[in-house]
Amino acid sequence: METKAGLKLIKPVLELKNVSTYYPGKQSYFKKQKFNQANYNINLKLRPGEILAIVGESGSGKSTLGNTIVGLVDDFEGEFIFQGSNYNPRIMSDLRSEIQIIFQDSLSSLNPRMKIGTAIIDVIKHHHPNTDVTERMDELFFKVNLSIITAGKYPHELSGGQRQRACIARALAVEPKILICDEIVSALDVSVQAKILNLLLRLVEEDHLAILFTTHDLHVVESFAHHVVVMKDGKIVEKGVTKDIFTNPQNAYTKTLLQSIPEKVNS
Ligand SMILES: Nc1ncnc2c1ncn2[C@@H]1O[C@H](COP(=O)(O)OP(=O)(O)OP(=O)(O)O)[C@@H](O)[C@H]1O
Ligand SMILES: [Mg+2]
Repeated sequence: METKAGLKLIKPVLELKNVSTYYPGKQSYFKKQKFNQANYNINLKLRPGEILAIVGESGSGKSTLGNTIVGLVDDFEGEFIFQGSNYNPRIMSDLRSEIQIIFQDSLSSLNPRMKIGTAIIDVIKHHHPNTDVTERMDELFFKVNLSIITAGKYPHELSGGQRQRACIARALAVEPKILICDEIVSALDVSVQAKILNLLLRLVEEDHLAILFTTHDLHVVESFAHHVVVMKDGKIVEKGVTKDIFTNPQNAYTKTLLQSIPEKVNS
C-alpha cells in the first residue's frame, strides 16, 4: 500500500516523548527492589488514519510499548500526549474510552461465562448509555462481518477468527480513536488473517482510526502498514515510511531483519 499523501500534515492523535518502561526485578528482604529497564526513550507519533507497525525480534519490547501506552505497566517515565493533551496512562479515566488494545489470545481476552453479545452490550451501556443498543449491535456486527447470531454464543463456541472479530467489535463499541493490535492475527490461518487485516484497513480508511500494530510477519507489514518502527533491545533503531524501510533500510539490524524474511509462498 502506498502511504497516503499528506498523512504527515495531519496532527498526531498520539505522541510519545522519551517513554521508558521498567519491570520489577528480583526482590529480597535486605536489598531494595531493582527495576529492569525494558524500553528506552521511545519517541513516536501516530496519526488518524495511519497504520503504524512495530517490528523487531522476540523480546525487543513491542508488547511492552503497547501495554505502556494503555497503562498496563506500573513503572514508566516520559510524556504521553493524546490529541494534543498530556495524559497519565495509569489514570484510566484519562483515556479508557479512547485507546483500546487487542491481544493475540482472543479466548482469554473474553469472559468464558459471558455470551459475546452480553459482553458487547455491557460495553455499549457503560460507555454510551444513551445509545440505542439494538441498532448499535447490528452496526458493530455488520462492521466486523459477524452474523448477529454470534451474539448468542459463548467464546469457546466460536472459531479463532470469529472470536478475534468479536474482540474487535467489543473494542469498537467503546468508539476509540486508537486501536493497539498486539499480534492479533498471528494465531490465525492465512485466509482468516487476510480478512481481519482487510477489516482493519476499512476501519482506518472509513473511520480514520489510528492503528498501532505489532507482528512478526514482515510480509503483512509491507503490504499493510503506512509507517514502520523497528525495535531492538527496547530501543527504536529505525523508523520511517514502509516503502523506504523495505527498499532502503539504513540500520544494520533492520537490514538483517529484512534479509530473514522467508520467501512468500503463493498458494
Ligand atoms: N511482565 C513482565 N515482567 C518482567 N519482565 C517483562 C514482562 N513483560 C516483558 N518483560 C521483559 O521485557 C522485555 C520486552 O518484552 P516484550 O514482551 O515487550 O517483547 P516483544 O517484542 O513483545 O516480544 P514477542 O515478539 O516475543 O512478543 C523482555 O526482556 C521481557 O522479558
Ligand atoms: Mg509481544
